[in-house]
Amino acid sequence: MVALSATCADVHLRIDPSILYFGTPVVLVTTRNRDGSTNIGPMSSAWALGDTVVLGWSTDSQTAVNLERERECVVNLPSADLHQAVEALAPLTGRDPVPADKTAKFRYEPDKFAAAGFTSQPSDRVAVPRIAQCQLQLEAKVSAIHVPVDPEGGFWIVETHVERVHAHPDIVKAGTDHIDPARWNPLLYVFRHYFGTGDELGRSFRAED
Ligand SMILES: Cc1cc2nc3c(=O)[nH]c(=O)nc-3n(C[C@H](O)[C@H](O)[C@H](O)COP(=O)(O)O)c2cc1C
Repeated sequence: MVALSATCADVHLRIDPSILYFGTPVVLVTTRNRDGSTNIGPMSSAWALGDTVVLGWSTDSQTAVNLERERECVVNLPSADLHQAVEALAPLTGRDPVPADKTAKFRYEPDKFAAAGFTSQPSDRVAVPRIAQCQLQLEAKVSAIHVPVDPEGGFWIVETHVERVHAHPDIVKAGTDHIDPARWNPLLYVFRHYFGTGDELGRSFRAED
């Protein structure tokens, strides 16, 4: 039985937050630049359903440009201990020149692997490499790019189909295809602050392992 408060009094405050980033995993999307080099785009507006991973990308990012042209990427998932490497990427863009509304806070960086201290690993199904330090890596191809009804919103909803999954043995239950949720500690982005996950609270009736 779920313990709920006995009172029905509405104590909620009506607020007007500047962002609605209520808490989603950080994803590092590797894409191929026009010159064949690799860009890394940190993001958190990502979710999965079946073999589909949907990514919300601002149209002024280099990642969006690359996804539209190359139609493929790797969705690299960093664990919580990589938060400083992720933050080292935060003020960077692979777009040159830097878009006008980003110049105050962002600078152009062509080598984001060096900026974050990451190492690249070749992929199997896509041309763009994976990030070795990420324990979970999803090679994916772009299946659709949805432009919101209001194009002034400045972002695209990019639908990708996952073609191959790579997982570090440390987070896989030995001899199975299951990620061990007790050992996989995704980095979460919560109202622009970084968190890991806490202790397990329970399991879904559909958990298979
Ligand atoms: C933790 C984190 C989460 C972010 N989430 C998103 C996101 O979901 N969508 C997005 O368009 N930008 C997001 N950003 C901002 C982009 O990373 C930023 O615009 C960056 O310059 C993109 O790099 P690029 O231009 O090389 O693609 C996020 C940044 C950080 C650090």
